[in-house]
Amino acid sequence: MHPVQLSDTTLWVHEAGAGPPLLLLHGFPFDHRMWSGQEPLARRMRLLVPDQRGFGRSGGALPASIEQLADDAAAVIRARSAGVPAVVCGLSMGGYVAQHLAARHPELVAALVLVDTKLEADTADARTARHDLANRVERVGQAVLAEAMLPRLLAPSPAARRMPRRPAIEETIRSTILATPVPTITAALAALAARPDMTTALGRLTVPTLLVVGAEDAITPPECLERAAAVIPGSRLCVLADCGHMAPLEDPAAFNAALTDFLAGIHPEHPV
Ligand code: MLT
Repeated sequence: MHPVQLSDTTLWVHEAGAGPPLLLLHGFPFDHRMWSGQEPLARRMRLLVPDQRGFGRSGGALPASIEQLADDAAAVIRARSAGVPAVVCGLSMGGYVAQHLAARHPELVAALVLVDTKLEADTADARTARHDLANRVERVGQAVLAEAMLPRLLAPSPAARRMPRRPAIEETIRSTILATPVPTITAALAALAARPDMTTALGRLTVPTLLVVGAEDAITPPECLERAAAVIPGSRLCVLADCGHMAPLEDPAAFNAALTDFLAGIHPEHPV
């Protein structure tokens, strides 16, 4: 992994391949490894896959806000692709970060891919639930978060449960959650709860945008991305069957095909 030195901490970035840059932003509470199924995209693109601050190897500082994580991501593009605008793809929390990156640093974003995420802020009830969850994690530990999240992260249908990769995916998710430091979890939950509504800002987007969602996503269901598609000018919506909230991990082949098809349309000089 490559270090990116920020004023207050170091971010670590997994890199692979060559070609137009593709920045992949992980969800909460994961790290760059949740994008392992996207390695085949490195045949035609340069993958930049950071551990965001507080997560994975970038554990030297805590996340304070989604805006801060977006500025971190901008620093990664500047440092690791010499400022060449990247295709920015984020899942869930990474999707919130990607939205802020597009709004705050539009010159660094060639195209946007928002995956299993939403534009709206938390409701008052959702904020209270995050606060309660943070308190329980502080008292009892990460296992509380694993119990709360695991049943909702992956597609629940019998067809999805029968997939041969399913036990390995569940184990990866469980072990990643249990290894995430408690201060990172509580800081990130506070940042997620405080994030603003991005509907108006995203309505002004001018970059090509792909929206991807698992048909069985229980955390940000397809309606969230349908609402985003209605707001973001010229955006394209792709719903992946038999996937839940972790679509790129649950069905990498289908996800990569959707992304490749989208990028072929916007990078005719560099078809992927
Ligand atoms: C994530 O997957 O990043 C989280 O579920 C985001 C959220 O809780 O809003």
